[in-house]
Amino acid sequence: MQSTVTINGLDVALPSDPRVSLLDFLREHLHLTGTKKGCDQGACGACTVLVDGEKRILSCLALAVQYQGRAITSVEGLAEQGALHPLQQAFIEHDGFQCGYCTPGQICSAVGMAAELRRGVPSYVTGDLASDTIEFSNDEVRERMSGNLCRCGAYNGIVAAVTEVNAGQPSQRAQEEA
Ligand code: FES
Repeated sequence: MQSTVTINGLDVALPSDPRVSLLDFLREHLHLTGTKKGCDQGACGACTVLVDGEKRILSCLALAVQYQGRAITSVEGLAEQGALHPLQQAFIEHDGFQCGYCTPGQICSAVGMAAELRRGVPSYVTGDLASDTIEFSNDEVRERMSGNLCRCGAYNGIVAAVTEVNAGQPSQRAQEEA
């Protein structure tokens, strides 16, 4: 039986060559070119996609075969029934991009980042590591999105878009799974 992975809700066969990165699988095999190849070495965040709905990963550092049986969401999978994801809409309204090359990675990363905040995962700038809640602040957004580079310097718009969509969401420290 052929190994499969779910990409944006559709089951697809994994490549027979185990050396194919998840990024190349998306772009070159499936022609899902929304996910971008910037550095191809884990430094820019342009290739960020989501695993199982909300865990962000760098697809250039992942092998496609590692994700057998898992669900991958790329930027093409965020819109639902023709309606843009709220973050996509907010990026437009806040001028969160210029050339747009980093934008798919920024948006996927922001989805994952918001989920981390909701689970109460602390960052380098979280003041009180023992607190049950983490405030959604400018500093938290900038720190947590620091792995996604924007050569155009649209950071103010990116932070504004991410903040508009996520501010006020409750944050609760997750019970660590054994
Ligand atoms: Fe993956 Fe730059 S292309 S981090």
